[in-house]
Amino acid sequence: MRSYLFVPGDSQRKLEKSLSSGADCLLIDLEDSVSTSQKATARQMAREFIAETRRNGTSADPGIVVRVNPLGSGLTQDDLAAVVAARPDGVLLPKCEHGADVQHLSTLIAVLEADAGIDEGETNIHALVTETAKGTLNAGTYASVSERLKTLSWGGEDLSADIGVEANRDGDGNYTDLFRHARTMTLLGAAAAGVEAVDTVYVDFKNAEGLENECRQAVRDGFSGKMAIHPSQVEIINRAFTPTEAAVERARRIVELFEEAGEDAGVLSLDGQMIDRPHLKQSQRILERARSRDQLAPCSSSSQVGRVISNVRAPSL
Ligand code: COA
Ligand code: MG
Repeated sequence: MRSYLFVPGDSQRKLEKSLSSGADCLLIDLEDSVSTSQKATARQMAREFIAETRRNGTSADPGIVVRVNPLGSGLTQDDLAAVVAARPDGVLLPKCEHGADVQHLSTLIAVLEADAGIDEGETNIHALVTETAKGTLNAGTYASVSERLKTLSWGGEDLSADIGVEANRDGDGNYTDLFRHARTMTLLGAAAAGVEAVDTVYVDFKNAEGLENECRQAVRDGFSGKMAIHPSQVEIINRAFTPTEAAVERARRIVELFEEAGEDAGVLSLDGQMIDRPHLKQSQRILERARSRDQLAPCSSSSQVGRVISNVRAPSL
């Protein structure tokens, strides 16, 4: 998924608008954008919104993930009890500090799934892993913690508060070293855990050029999507994270080249450039993304890509 739009859980207007935002996934927020006095209301509104969306559902609906309050807030259990039975696609855990937090959350969800007659494991988990210093240092602890875990993402605002920094960007608007480190830890932690890395929000929501620039850097560095706070950001993010036709075509040629060369192929050449197994892995990833976004024609090209991918031995990297 490319775009994840935050929607305050206690705003009926924004919940309604979010469905036509074009976001691949909605992040219904019960945490920072909801005041303490509104928490109970937001839970009920989130539950009704999910249930209603499921009732009227179409295949074009965005994914729905609920951001609960952090473990240790004393609110997580009530948040989960309100929403899990409505069958959100997943739960986003903020201020996650260790792989063990994901395991703990998974256990809480499993009990509620059983109570609601939902198959165990249907509810995914997404984790925000750099919102505290401790969490940032532990970003490498997510491998094999839970089959539910789908993405890791990072946040700069809460980390600023945890550490007590004056500003998280320098005079040119670039993140300072501390936040670049948190961002890098997220990429490394997600790759080590075999899940996707999702880039953090861009809060200056009227600055389209700044967002485009940050999206380009995120694509370059290996994030698969980005979180948004305003509907106007969604199209920019979707565009940036959709592989271009040229990239898809090149990826297809590389995969086919390896298929033709057979199982033992190590290094090959394409258009005068060396191509080896890391390129194959990267190309398979691009084709997977293109396929999951229905970029390829359903009958011919996508089945062809499926065949090519399945015939090529997975790289042993
Ligand atoms: N989801 C759905 N709809 C949204 C939205 C969002 N995140 N943000 C804005 N909208 C809607 C508004 O309701 C408004 O619709 P309307 O004119 O029909 O009422 C329209 O989009 C334009 O909004 P705009 O006036 O430009 O912004 P705003 O001043 O109302 O809101 C924010 C600005 C930042 C408060 C708002 O975008 C927001 O709530 N973002 C999410 C915050 C959040 O969840 N933070 C936690 C994670 S960091
Ligand atoms: Mg926060």
